[in-house]
Amino acid sequence: MCRTISIFNMKGGVGKTTTAYNLAAGLADFCHQKVLLVDIDPQGNSSASFGIPIWDLELQIRDVLLRKASIQDTVISIRDNIDVVPSNIILAEDEIPISGLPGRELLLRKAIASIEDKYDYILIDCPPNIGVFSINALMASQEVLIPVDLSFLGLLGLRSIEKALDLIRTALDHPLKITGVLATRYDGRTNVSKEVLQSLKDTFSDKMFSTVIPENVKIKEAPSFSIPVYQHDEKGVGAKAYSSLVQEVICR
Ligand SMILES: Nc1ncnc2c1ncn2[C@@H]1O[C@H](COP(=O)(O)OP(=O)(O)O)[C@@H](O)[C@H]1O
Ligand SMILES: [Mg+2]
Repeated sequence: MCRTISIFNMKGGVGKTTTAYNLAAGLADFCHQKVLLVDIDPQGNSSASFGIPIWDLELQIRDVLLRKASIQDTVISIRDNIDVVPSNIILAEDEIPISGLPGRELLLRKAIASIEDKYDYILIDCPPNIGVFSINALMASQEVLIPVDLSFLGLLGLRSIEKALDLIRTALDHPLKITGVLATRYDGRTNVSKEVLQSLKDTFSDKMFSTVIPENVKIKEAPSFSIPVYQHDEKGVGAKAYSSLVQEVICR
């Protein structure tokens, strides 16, 4: 059965896109899972990381949400086992019309229902807010993976995430399982990284992934070559960390 997982945090720069992209590639390339990555962030960063020319899209997630195209028609095949539904900034222009549609919270869920039997994993890369796009992503998912950067503001943002997930659970009556909380951008030279990591472990205990993603230049560089970190720096710490995350996600 297909697992649909939103990669969500209302803070930007925490590694949502980096995680969605490398997790999608790892699940497909190492574990032979059939993966669809849905990019529902108007920045289009996960689409661009796979080398999709985001300024020349004929169809994209916007057309799905506006019910102008079937999701199948927007899918771009990257390679064996990896498909992407792309987005770009034009999606942002349609936030208000999409927010006015009846059943606006369920547009993506309904679209995904028509293709989920083709995939083992559907990963959804969310924008850094709790607007109509993130709500669609969370309502279409059974699970949420929460990357948290190891900074003071990263820790502070956790209250807002809990509130957002409460809204989905109570107001919208959708139970969401937390796949895991992922510590990202760890810099062992700094006390703040160590302290925030400890605080996350104390708060989330077994919800924390044991994998910690390090701050690592190879992770940052990989999208500029349209390759995941495993290909860019096969034996490096970034590749090892994301491979270990792939195994943990599979086992949860
Ligand atoms: N572990 C990491 N090490 C180094 N740079 C990172 C790491 N994770 C993310 N980045 C970089 O930080 C920036 C923001 O990351 P991104 O994944 O786009 O965050 P988000 O999607 O949460 O906004 C990008 O330039 C990305 O390459
Ligand atoms: Mg992003």
